[in-house]
Amino acid sequence: IARNFSNSSAMQSAIKNITVIGGGLMGSGIAQVSAQAGQNVTLVDLSPEVLAKSQKSIGANLGRVAKKVYKDKPQEGEKFVAESMARIKTSTDPAAAAKSADLVVEAIVENMGVKHKLFQQLDAVAPEHTIFASNTSSLSINEICSVVKRKDRFGGLHFFNPVPVMRLLEVVRGAETSDATYKTMMEWGKAVGKTCITCKDTPGFVVNRLLVPYICEAIRLYERGDASARDIDTAMKLGAGYPMGPLELADYVGLDTNKFILDGWHNKYPDQPLFKPIPLLNKLVSEGKLGVKAGEGFYKYE
Ligand code: CAA
Ligand code: NAD
Repeated sequence: IARNFSNSSAMQSAIKNITVIGGGLMGSGIAQVSAQAGQNVTLVDLSPEVLAKSQKSIGANLGRVAKKVYKDKPQEGEKFVAESMARIKTSTDPAAAAKSADLVVEAIVENMGVKHKLFQQLDAVAPEHTIFASNTSSLSINEICSVVKRKDRFGGLHFFNPVPVMRLLEVVRGAETSDATYKTMMEWGKAVGKTCITCKDTPGFVVNRLLVPYICEAIRLYERGDASARDIDTAMKLGAGYPMGPLELADYVGLDTNKFILDGWHNKYPDQPLFKPIPLLNKLVSEGKLGVKAGEGFYKYE
């Protein structure tokens, strides 16, 4: 956290004005780390009510950062929070917000049709130089950008939850992403405090291609009754050094999200056994047991 709030790092990025579309879990985090790094941010969502919620959560998370970084200097901490918050404007009009953006990062619902509609609209109004990026977890960057003209100025910028804490950024090159766009995306990622890796446009890029099948294998192991949920999680925490066990992580990410990713890949690659549907996962989702956000998944939450 301490590494990604310096104003000077933002000076190295060609990107000064960023528009984040989608102010949910991920979009709020992306807006936060960008503002911490000195960027001017416009955060867009469908309603002022959602945006008020995003701002509240960003304020609280900036407070956590300030408490840690400015431990002995509470006044400086307050200034840091206020200045970072002041860099974040909000809007319910994506087209207007894109007009002043050097970079647009899309973090809306994981649905190809909805993403297509948004990018088509933005492509018509955004300045020539504006780079478009998607934070998609599981969809193809080439498929998302098929509807825009600026395919050379399009790529993937895949962050991890919780964005302010997770230090990785996957920079995804689509088939037509230009060298200049790729370089700008890498520099921007560094400027907002992340360690960037380069990925091709393959399902799940690097992290989710490994993490999702791993989580799914843990669910299958539990489903077969080979071990209890608690023991599976303890095993991977103490035996493999993971901060969370796979079933805790599944609850944290959301079981609906896990199912959505798996189903999408299964439809596209029906012969891949790692992507086969899991009856227990389907059952939990159909019962509304979606994990932490629903109060119950593999575990119960207060
Ligand atoms: N915002 C800001 N700071 C946060 C935060 C948030 N949302 N959540 C936690 N933190 C901070 C805490 O303030 C705390 O800071 P200090 O060390 O300074 O006190 C630090 O992070 C650790 O938090 P906690 O002590 O509350 O809890 P923890 O030690 O158990 O860590 C965790 C929490 C960072 C989430 C850790 O359990 C972890 O790394 N889990 C794995 C997360 C993971 O794998 N994420 C990737 C999911 S997959 C994905 O995102 C891709 C996709 O496309 C689906
Ligand atoms: P979320 O549901 O928390 O937030 C999505 C937000 O987008 C909502 O606030 C919604 O109101 C808004 N939205 C929907 N359609 C919109 C539109 N047309 N215009 C403007 N706003 C719109 O979802 P999230 O978890 O933040 O995920 C967002 C994206 O990030 C998805 O593509 C997801 O796959 C990806 N992602 C998620 C995670 C994760 O762990 N949750 C991690 C990495 C990437």
